[in-house]
Amino acid sequence: MFATCDSGDLTRDDDDSSACQGSLCLLLPANADANANANANTKTKENNMTAPFNLAETDRLLSTTRAVRRRLDLERTVERAVILDCLRLSQQAPTASNTQKWRWMVVTDPGKRRAIGEIYGRGKQFIAQARGEIASDDAQTHRVYDSAEWLFDHIAEVPVLVIPCLEGRLAGDAPNGMAAAFYGSIYPAMWSFQLALRSRGLGSALTTIHLFFEEEVAKLLNIPKDVMQVALLPVGYTKGTDFKVAKRQSVEEIVHFDEWS
Ligand SMILES: Cc1cc2nc3c(=O)[nH]c(=O)nc-3n(C[C@H](O)[C@H](O)[C@H](O)COP(=O)(O)O)c2cc1C
Repeated sequence: MFATCDSGDLTRDDDDSSACQGSLCLLLPANADANANANANTKTKENNMTAPFNLAETDRLLSTTRAVRRRLDLERTVERAVILDCLRLSQQAPTASNTQKWRWMVVTDPGKRRAIGEIYGRGKQFIAQARGEIASDDAQTHRVYDSAEWLFDHIAEVPVLVIPCLEGRLAGDAPNGMAAAFYGSIYPAMWSFQLALRSRGLGSALTTIHLFFEEEVAKLLNIPKDVMQVALLPVGYTKGTDFKVAKRQSVEEIVHFDEWS
C-alpha cells in the first residue's frame, strides 16, 4: 500500500522543496545534469555516443516524479483534453501478449467524487495500524503517512480521480507468472500516465487502498464485475513544479551482476 522501505527524504511531495538538493547529482545517472539546459542531442560522458533524447530533461522527469498529495491544486480545473493526451501516451506502454485490456475510469463529477471520498476515507483505519509497525524516529515514513492521511480527508476535493482497470479478474490463487502478467499489463501505463502528467505541470499519487472496498466503488460507477480496478490516482495541477529527487539506497546495494552475492 504505502511504500515505506525507502530511506531518506523520500516523498517531499507536499511541503518541503529542499529535499535531497545537496545529493541530487549523486542520485542521478552519472551522465545526467538535472539543472542543465542541454541540447536535444546529448553526448554522454561515458561512451561518447549521441543520446537520442535530451537527457537532462528526461532524467529530471524520471527522478522528480513524486507521489503528490498536499501540493495538488484543489481549485484549478483540469481540462479533459489534458487527461486524454496523457492517457493516449500511456497507451504506448507494454502489455503481456499485447492484450491492451486496460480501461480507465475518469471521475470528475463532484457528487461521485464525494461518494468515492467517503469510501476511500475508510482506509484511514489502516494508517494507524501501519504507523504502529514503523519506528517512532523514522521521520520520513511518518511524513508519508501524514501526507496519506491528508489525502483521506481531501480526496473528494481533488479535481480528477482516475481509476485504472483491467478487463478480466485475477484469480486469488493465480501463480506468480499470471499475476505478474496481469498487473504488469497496467502498471507501466499508469507510470507513463503519471510521467505525462508531471511533464505538463500536473501531479498524482498512485494509491491502492480503496481496493479493499472495490465492490462499492464498482457499484457507484457501474463498473462491470469482470473488470478489475487496479488503483486510484488523484490528479490535479501541482502548486509549483519544483519537485525533488528522493533519497534512495545506492544502486550498488540493490544490484547483483551474474550472481546473487
Ligand atoms: C503499489 C503502490 C501502492 C500505493 N498505495 C498508496 C496508497 O494507498 N495511498 C497513498 O497515499 N500512497 C500510496 N502509494 C504511494 C507511496 O506511498 C509513495 O510512492 C512512496 O511513499 C514513495 O514516494 P514517491 O513516490 O514520492 O517517491 C503507493 C505506491 C505504490 C507503488
